[in-house]
Amino acid sequence: MRRLLKVLVLLPALAAGSVAAQDFALETHGAVGPEGEIRVPDVNYRGEWVALGNWITNGAEFANEIHTVYTQREAVAAYLENGSFPDGTVVVKELLSAEAQDMTTGFISHATTLNGWFVMVKDTEGRFPDNALWGDGWGWAQFSADAPRQSFTKDYEAECRTCHVPAQDTDWLYTWGYPALR
Ligand code: HEC
Repeated sequence: MRRLLKVLVLLPALAAGSVAAQDFALETHGAVGPEGEIRVPDVNYRGEWVALGNWITNGAEFANEIHTVYTQREAVAAYLENGSFPDGTVVVKELLSAEAQDMTTGFISHATTLNGWFVMVKDTEGRFPDNALWGDGWGWAQFSADAPRQSFTKDYEAECRTCHVPAQDTDWLYTWGYPALR
């Protein structure tokens, strides 16, 4: 039944001449272009997606930042049901500067300006074997705050993969930081 629904949904797209290979199981909101280009999804993810969790960098190597990670509601529902991320899962990590101040609760940090994004897109079909942004079941790209449509990542193996090896057993995501997935 689900399969039939998917076929029915895809038919108009095929008739219009678009390439079926780019049709992900989940709506990716423009995160993937025809050649496997990756973009920050064109959706109000802060309001409409699930905030999986936050990472706070504490000075050491990088500037003081708060990283907030978002994904589609459907991706969270599927993960909670069967423990894996469905095709078309889009994970957006926002980088925000952090500032701390004395407040009535203590010395407390809050987010200020947006510094950029990291985006990953789940691909269970291996759609873009010749594109260096894709591999290990995901598309990978980084963006500066002024260019959400144009990633500056050239090669995920050189720029992303090594740092995510500690999360390899959880499909390359640091899932243990995300209360929304428990
Ligand atoms: C210096 C090491 C490092 C590099 C390089 C790196 N990452 Fe990460 N990434 C991390 C760590 C550690 C986290 C979780 C903690 C944090 O946000 O600092 C993370 C989190 C993420 C997240 C949130 C989802 C998750 O995995 O839990 C995304 C999306 C992401 N990275 C994408 C990328 C992409 C795309 C690249 C390459 C363009 C990349 N990362 C390069 C270390 C790295």
